[in-house]
Amino acid sequence: MAKIAVLTSGGDAPGMNATIRAIVRSGIYAGHEIYGIERGFEGLLNRQIKRMDSRCVSDIIQRGGTILKTARSEEFNTPEGVRKAAEILKAFKIDALVVIGGDGSFRGAKDLVNLENFNCLGIPCTIDNDLSYTDYTIGFDTATNTVVSAINSIRDTMTSHDRACIIEVMGRKCGDIALYSGIASGAESILVPELPFDIKAITNKMRTNQIKGKVSDIIVLAEGVCGCGELKAMIQEEIDIVIRTVKLGYIQRGGSPTMADRVLGARLAERAIALFNNGFTGGRCVGIKNGKIIDLSIDEVLNAPSKFNKELYDIATKLSF
Ligand code: F6P
Repeated sequence: MAKIAVLTSGGDAPGMNATIRAIVRSGIYAGHEIYGIERGFEGLLNRQIKRMDSRCVSDIIQRGGTILKTARSEEFNTPEGVRKAAEILKAFKIDALVVIGGDGSFRGAKDLVNLENFNCLGIPCTIDNDLSYTDYTIGFDTATNTVVSAINSIRDTMTSHDRACIIEVMGRKCGDIALYSGIASGAESILVPELPFDIKAITNKMRTNQIKGKVSDIIVLAEGVCGCGELKAMIQEEIDIVIRTVKLGYIQRGGSPTMADRVLGARLAERAIALFNNGFTGGRCVGIKNGKIIDLSIDEVLNAPSKFNKELYDIATKLSF
């Protein structure tokens, strides 16, 4: 039996609650004691730790956000902050910490493992899908479906008015939200930080589309490339066209998680608890590869090479004329 603490960190993502629920219930089922830490590493430094029972996680599986709240902590990003966090965890007699979050949160967990020898287990949960060791992060499916639904609505009005529209989506330095929502909504152009873009190629395509009678171009722009206002100015330098911009913003982070995100949360939590049942120590992260649940050392996870899906990008391009 282990005393396991769980926190959510970084940007919230749909499916965080479903994952917390699965950790609490699978953990208690296996005989572990589960503690929730509020407001991520910041809350840990403020000792916001409380015991969780299975009732604390009732009626949350369908809710977006995180009942444990989340924060970005400057103090934890220092060696002193990491030491203080480890001391607090030890004072509460916690054996291991489950970190539900993305790349930045995993880097925090890695510091706890490598600098303070504290046991940490990472569960990938971010809308950005920017952890390349796993095919999907929890929250990505919901976020991309939200984006697709928004683009469908925008497409209706753009078509009615014969307008083009640049839609800026989140993802930090990763283009996956733009790529997957772009291909799924039939976008004419998709701009991602992983690939250079040629403004002339985009405007030539817009011109050709106009000649063919296709005037409602949808350009999906990942925030890691540039802002939608900047891209609009670049396009209008080259071509005289009515063009609107929409920055989708936080709508992408909220909302009820899809079935896929809820199921992924349950499966990853199950593997995490199985590792604790087998006396896990050190730093590991769980993920999904080719449909199978995997676990890898946190160092391997954070050094995994980028996984941008160029094949999918080429399909999207081929289908967009
Ligand atoms: O990491 C998730 C994310 O939503 C990114 O896509 C985005 O760049 C960032 O968080 C926004 O962060 P904040 O909540 O600090 O505005």
